[in-house]
Amino acid sequence: MSTPSNQDPRLDQAAASDESLLASHEKLLGTQPDEKARYKLVPLTLLFFFSGLIFFAGTYLNRYSGLFDPHIYNENSLPTTGAAVAVKIDPLVLGKKQYEAVCITCHQATGLGQPGVFPPLAGSEWVNGSDDRLIRVVVYGLQGPIKVMGVDYNGAAMPAIGKVAGSGFNLSDEKIAAVLTYIRQQWGNSTAAITTEQVAAVRSKDGDRKAYTAAELLK
Ligand code: HEC
Repeated sequence: MSTPSNQDPRLDQAAASDESLLASHEKLLGTQPDEKARYKLVPLTLLFFFSGLIFFAGTYLNRYSGLFDPHIYNENSLPTTGAAVAVKIDPLVLGKKQYEAVCITCHQATGLGQPGVFPPLAGSEWVNGSDDRLIRVVVYGLQGPIKVMGVDYNGAAMPAIGKVAGSGFNLSDEKIAAVLTYIRQQWGNSTAAITTEQVAAVRSKDGDRKAYTAAELLK
């Protein structure tokens, strides 16, 4: 423990007289801040304004909330009967989507292709003929000369679209089946649907391979 030096100001305070202490306290008490001035009440107008706002919000939610029912707020919500509902995807809807994403640039919206370069799908014997042959063309692609509805084409190659090595598209078997079903129902075509199982069967039989030629497919 150290003894305070003579310069310590506390020694001065200890020597202060009672009168001088009272005098300084009186001075301090006189300068106490006015409590009422520091804490002002919320103006009554604001109180009314917020009460009104809360009342309005409550009424609004009560009227328009729809009880926060998912059927009202979730556009993906499906009506349920309590049991789970299996979502059935329409192959024609899925097929149209694939056609517009992949095939349309070459075979066109009309399904007529482009003279001399892209053969037509409308009325084509390749589309409306053998199931497996059609699946092979689209899954693996096609190169070399081909005759479609009596017209020769050899201007370009058809890329592999299925889930096979070298395919830039890698469409699933389901999507291939859907797009083939779609082109078989468009532009006056009316041939039976292609199933996902048929596409899967061709793919597992043929494995990974390069594009077919028309000559190979006609054998
Ligand atoms: C990059 C252009 C291109 C794309 C994309 C394309 N094709 Fe082709 N398609 C061709 C060409 C070119 C041929 C002819 C190939 C040949 O000459 O050997 C062809 C041939 C075909 C044939 C056989 C001939 C006929 O006209 O019936 C079918 C069927 C076919 N395509 C369907 C499709 C489908 C379905 C898609 C989309 C999933 C598709 N094609 C995407 C260019 C394309």
